[in-house]
Amino acid sequence: MNDIRNIVILTGAGISAESGLATFRGPDGLWEGHRVEDVCTPEALARNPALVHRFYDERRAKLAEVKPNAAHEALAALDAAWPGELLIVTQNVDDLHERAGAKRLIHMHGELRSAFCAACGRAVPWVEALPPASPCGGCGQPRMRPDIVFFGEMPYEMDRIEEALRRADLFVSVGTSGAVYPAAGFVQTARHVGARTIELNLDPSAGSFYFEESRMGPASRLVPELVHDLLA
Ligand code: APR
Repeated sequence: MNDIRNIVILTGAGISAESGLATFRGPDGLWEGHRVEDVCTPEALARNPALVHRFYDERRAKLAEVKPNAAHEALAALDAAWPGELLIVTQNVDDLHERAGAKRLIHMHGELRSAFCAACGRAVPWVEALPPASPCGGCGQPRMRPDIVFFGEMPYEMDRIEEALRRADLFVSVGTSGAVYPAAGFVQTARHVGARTIELNLDPSAGSFYFEESRMGPASRLVPELVHDLLA
């Protein structure tokens, strides 16, 4: 790993599973108990705001009961110590990366502890429940919504992510099923520019074959091992 300077790390729900947060797919996954079309699309928000807000209120409340695990902590330690470029891109809407201390972080699918105004675009930190039609503190319109990127909406900061991927020497994917684009395609961009690609996951993901190397196991073991090797 001596020749590596620029690193991009993509994380998904699997990195927070051992902290006690449910993943999306699989037997106990969130999408087993809820239909995506009912809670995670702009149409669902327009049709049944109470249901959509309740779904995210419950998940926001759950954050108070969980804490970062060894995988979040290892990535935060890497962020603090790595002298080259590093970007952690998370699909997760929990705040466990930042609570562990990560700074070079993008929440590409939004954040549970944030709300934004659908009228003026103003985003504000939000830790309590968010009743539908809450007024915006800026423009006054009753249009505050969860700051979540719904299916059919554009993920955040794609330009910065693409730029980092194009400069990457190493791309690592942790705890994601590779089912959702554009994140599932990052490995292809990384390979295209000649970066080394490593997947860390409990099971092989939908895109495992794109990675040069796949290591199977729990994130709380695999991530600290990789970080140890990178910092050695
Ligand atoms: N360690 C490592 N990997 C794990 C662990 C663990 N302890 N537990 C589960 N996993 C793996 C699963 O094997 C699975 O491949 O994490 C992956 C989680 O996959 P998903 O539930 O599909 O979550 P994710 O890939 O983050 O979903 C992507 O889909 O619904 C949308 O917007 C939502 O950001 C989310 C996106």
